[in-house]
Amino acid sequence: MTPSDVKATLSFSDGSASMDLPIYKGTIGPDVIDIRKLYAQTGKFTYDPGFLSTSSCNSTITYIDGDKGELLYRGYPIEQLAVNCDYLDTCYLLLYGDLPNESQRQDFHARVTNHTMVNEQMQFFLRGFRRDAHPMAIMTGLVGALSAFYHDSTDINNPQHREIAAIRLIAKMPTLVAMAYKYSAGQPYMYPKNDLSYAGNFMRMMFATPCEDYKVNPVIERALDRIFILHADHEQNASTSTVRLCGSSGTNPFAAIAAGVACLWGPAHGGANEACLNMLEEIQANGGVAKVGEFMEKVKDKNSGVKLMGFGHRVYKNYDPRAKLMRETCHEVLNELGLQNDPLFKLAMELEKIALEDDYFVARKLYPNVDFYSGIVQRAIGIPVQLFTAIFALARTVGWIAQLNEMIADPEYKIGRPRQLYVGAAQRDVKPLSER
Ligand code: CMC
Repeated sequence: MTPSDVKATLSFSDGSASMDLPIYKGTIGPDVIDIRKLYAQTGKFTYDPGFLSTSSCNSTITYIDGDKGELLYRGYPIEQLAVNCDYLDTCYLLLYGDLPNESQRQDFHARVTNHTMVNEQMQFFLRGFRRDAHPMAIMTGLVGALSAFYHDSTDINNPQHREIAAIRLIAKMPTLVAMAYKYSAGQPYMYPKNDLSYAGNFMRMMFATPCEDYKVNPVIERALDRIFILHADHEQNASTSTVRLCGSSGTNPFAAIAAGVACLWGPAHGGANEACLNMLEEIQANGGVAKVGEFMEKVKDKNSGVKLMGFGHRVYKNYDPRAKLMRETCHEVLNELGLQNDPLFKLAMELEKIALEDDYFVARKLYPNVDFYSGIVQRAIGIPVQLFTAIFALARTVGWIAQLNEMIADPEYKIGRPRQLYVGAAQRDVKPLSER
């Protein structure tokens, strides 16, 4: 962190002594005011529910400029990575700080590939779930269960152990997601096939059966790989902050990632892709494009409780760059599959057009986010709607583990422990039962 020449001065209207607060500059983005000594010097906390103005850490991994609609992984624009790299290159970049050269690339691909199988016991664990359990409930359990297989061999303070935990997680997530799907479909699990690409192997584990050969469609493979790249990291979002907070106690890294999976499930975060597709299907069932105007009126009515899912973002106050790339992929996939006239895609584009011209959305700077189009792509590929967020979890695992490892490697890291403004009852005495 580079100190700024400027200092902030905090003064109080009751005449208490003022306090100078240091300011630090990042490489890009807003400066931060360092309030770490605030409580010691003033006896006061800051109040910032939802972390609207609080940087919880410093990080070198991902940068978002929400006003410009810009997303950088380790300084590289997402648009360039999505076109020039594959998901495993992106994983390498997020974990190690730069893109791999040819030999680093081969070595990394081989290391991940060597870890794609999961312990055979995992399938017995899976069997404990109801067949109709939500895949995110299953994934929270399965990822948490991985900690039982790698507990004694994982010393979180050992950088090599942290690295192998990262590789294991990246390698095993597709296997676990596909197993969760096969379990719900009542089909046999397909073991990983290591001569396929990361996305190709996932497609085969999802869609192949032992009865027939399976050929990976390269357009769909590339689309899936792009979904993974676009979801790989997104700085200090709710699930990443959950992983950091959970991991800050020194817990098993697989358990910390399971906490991230649990957080991602919510409809305001990773669950938005599922919620968005359900919304599109509902509008379609109730009259389609002709009913879009009526639906938008409900969205704008605060008493209706209806939101335009896949729209709006805490950080982006401009078009989410991932949504642009996803819309492009949507075209490619629908063309490849002969679904150019897909009614949900038409509906989504109509909703987007109306929203981008409507004062309600313009005034609040609400734009489509990545989830607006990712559901349509996934549905066309044949991924069941309930599994969408599990695909997001698969892709985000690298971001979570890169952020967790960055935190643990920081010599200054402390257990995360927010403060509060207590507004409950003051101290009082317990009365005997007869007097209450
Ligand atoms: N539809 C209608 N109104 C909205 C929407 C929406 N999707 N999003 C925000 N608003 C309104 C909100 O009611 C508020 O209006 P007002 O100022 O009149 O009270 C204003 O816009 C600001 O919204 P906010 O809820 O204060 O913003 P936030 O930063 O707390 O919430 C959000 C961000 C993503 C939770 C929210 O935009 C939302 O719920 N969107 C729909 C869910 C969604 O698509 N989530 C995926 C996010 S991207 C994937 C990921 O990274 O997880």
